[in-house]
Amino acid sequence: MSHQTVIILDFGGQYNQLIARRVREQRVYCEVRPHTTPVEELRALKPIGIIFTGGPGSVYDPAAPQADPEVFRLGVPILGICYGCQLLAHNLGGRVAPAQGDTAREYGKTGTAFDTDCRLFRGLPAESVTWMSHGDYMEKVPDGFKLTARSAACPNVAIADEARGFYGVQFHPEVSHTEQGAAILRNFLYEVCGAAGDWNMEDYKDAAVRRLREKIGDGKVLLALSGGVDSSVAAALLAEAVGRQLTCVFVDHGLMRLNEGDEVEAAFSRWDIQFVRADAEERFLSRLAGVTEPEEKRKIIGGEFIRVFEAEAKKIGRVDYLAQGTIYPDVIESGAGDAAVIKSHHNVGGLPDHVDFKEIVEPLRLLFKDEVRRLGRELGLPEYLVSRQPFPGPGLAIRCIGEVTREKLDLLRQADFIFRDEIAKAGLAGSMDQYFAVLTNLRSVGVMGDGRTYDYALALRSVTTSDFMTADWTRIPYDVLDRVSVRVVNEVPRINRVLYDITSKPPATIEYE
Ligand code: XMP
Repeated sequence: MSHQTVIILDFGGQYNQLIARRVREQRVYCEVRPHTTPVEELRALKPIGIIFTGGPGSVYDPAAPQADPEVFRLGVPILGICYGCQLLAHNLGGRVAPAQGDTAREYGKTGTAFDTDCRLFRGLPAESVTWMSHGDYMEKVPDGFKLTARSAACPNVAIADEARGFYGVQFHPEVSHTEQGAAILRNFLYEVCGAAGDWNMEDYKDAAVRRLREKIGDGKVLLALSGGVDSSVAAALLAEAVGRQLTCVFVDHGLMRLNEGDEVEAAFSRWDIQFVRADAEERFLSRLAGVTEPEEKRKIIGGEFIRVFEAEAKKIGRVDYLAQGTIYPDVIESGAGDAAVIKSHHNVGGLPDHVDFKEIVEPLRLLFKDEVRRLGRELGLPEYLVSRQPFPGPGLAIRCIGEVTREKLDLLRQADFIFRDEIAKAGLAGSMDQYFAVLTNLRSVGVMGDGRTYDYALALRSVTTSDFMTADWTRIPYDVLDRVSVRVVNEVPRINRVLYDITSKPPATIEYE
């Protein structure tokens, strides 16, 4: 089935995939294409609308990315965002210049007044906050265009030529700081382009399956399955696409939460794929014996993981594709430059050195986390897998302070299960982004029955965050904390004290090691 298509023409902006995601949220199919795409190719896609993205350049710079002027003669509505807006102005007879002084250069949240007679802003409040980031400014608006929004510093925040369906906005409607951003994009898609909303996640799944089949042919695919959401959804998608050509290697390092390994295995029983569960608990625990330094633990686990994975891969023989559950935020973060290393992250999708393969496939590379979850549901993965909170690659080893032993891990697994169980029963799971128990290495004196105890203190950690770079501790109601505490000290041996962590990140990190 073919869908109405919107083309997002990429001029090098930071938020291009975010624009794509916002369009998908409006149930409209879209494709991001480089700005150099020949206009004939664009025409062949029969787009109902085109969005010009932002970009770092200045349109008056001869080296800046330009649009083929023919694109303005396709008879298709265009929305230019930031640089894209200036490009419209520049190409259609306006003038763009560097902003002078404080006027017109704008960064961050900006109060903006809208002309709500304009189709782009129909139904919006007359004023709201937009998010700006531009150093250039439209000095002269092209003929045939009217000004449709302004801010205190800048009279030219948005332009429109309603007859041709050309619109430009200096702000970024795709970022969440722009209060009416979703409504503006919806207006462009539905009011201006006449979108029917004929696209959904089921279609995305079908198209992704088709693309994977075409690419992989009869090749063999290998995927490291961690049990986390991303690798599980990638595995399910590949399972749907190529069935037994897929081998999933699930390295069970013995550092999973209660029943997690079995749950992962059970979830994949519905597909006829090659599923290898490498039971490597013994191997990991013996390598970790006596190790207390957090970074050393992480390095041992990361290294050991790769070795186990490679050993399993060798048994399979020829591999054509190595699959990874990379999602779009990982793509952005890995380009984040040379920020200080706080913790050496271990991602179980990490690349092995000694496995030969032709190519890497990353079927989730353009999706955001919540889209990945929706795709997982569409593929029929169970809810406990799809809505699973993030879990670090090194697993419980970094939540078991000091030496990692099987006994301590078992205590931690039980206590962590009780915490999660009580959060679920209280209906709070959706209101926190990550929550878990940590077995501190602190032992303290208690009294149980008539006897003295000298046992471990358990820390509970729960955070709310949007990006995991900063986080606030969750205000869990006292009665819920109380139930967790009572159950833990009664049901789990060797724990006689429960603490609740009230530190945000920074200064603390989310995990303890
Ligand atoms: P921190 O402790 O740095 O954690 O505040 C931020 C987020 O990253 C997760 N985390 C990891 N995820 N491999 C992962 O895949 C790792 O080695 C790792 N270490 C921390 C952590 O659970 C939190 O969500």
